[in-house]
Amino acid sequence: MKPIKDLRLEYSKESLDVSDVVSNPIQQFERWMNEALDADLIEPYAMTLSTVGNDLKPSSRIVLLRGISQLGLTFFTNYESKKGQNLLENPQAALNFFWPELERQVRIEGTVQKTSLEESTAYFHSRPKGNRLGAWASDQSRPIESKEALQNKAQKVEVHYENEDSVPCPEHWGGYRLIPNYFEFWQGRPSRLHDRIFYEKDESGNWKIGRLQP
Ligand SMILES: Cc1cc2nc3c(=O)[nH]c(=O)nc-3n(C[C@H](O)[C@H](O)[C@H](O)COP(=O)(O)O)c2cc1C
Repeated sequence: MKPIKDLRLEYSKESLDVSDVVSNPIQQFERWMNEALDADLIEPYAMTLSTVGNDLKPSSRIVLLRGISQLGLTFFTNYESKKGQNLLENPQAALNFFWPELERQVRIEGTVQKTSLEESTAYFHSRPKGNRLGAWASDQSRPIESKEALQNKAQKVEVHYENEDSVPCPEHWGGYRLIPNYFEFWQGRPSRLHDRIFYEKDESGNWKIGRLQP
């Protein structure tokens, strides 16, 4: 393996100060997401979701951000997956975006709620048929004996819904919305003196903005 301990980049593209950000962190996040989209990054809306269940063992995986509103950030998954089980036991979760081309990271923490049945169903039906069939074919996060066994399950689902225009949304599938109470916007700077601007929600629901040491 190459000596990764000797590989390092200097970050210098941009800087970030309290005076550069807007007072609403969701608007600030939309601003950065738009810049990431404009920069033609590959899936800048892919984010690491971290959860902790009753066993107190943190668990992380990538999911796709599918919506941003003043209420929070939405993603979709299988409610019976490992993440679904973790979130049932403990709705606290963290999201992380890393956009290396922009030398940026965003950290978001909060509490997760399931989206309404209407919202989950509407999104489910906006997906291509293959993705909708996949939601029926996969008992996400459960072991299976072989690839063939998975392909057989997928084929059975395909035959079952062959003549149906609309594959129904499974009960075990839907969205979660992370209601944020903490944001951090990180901009890489030379000599590891990075800019870190955070937002924390106080008890009256107001956002406090500050700077963290790198
Ligand atoms: C780029 C990318 C996007 C993904 N998007 C989703 C997603 O939106 N929803 C989802 O359930 N899994 C998604 N996955 C798969 C998850 O990372 C994970 O394998 C799966 O959800 C099972 O996680 P769990 O066992 O921790 O519940 C994605 C993976 C990658 C690499």
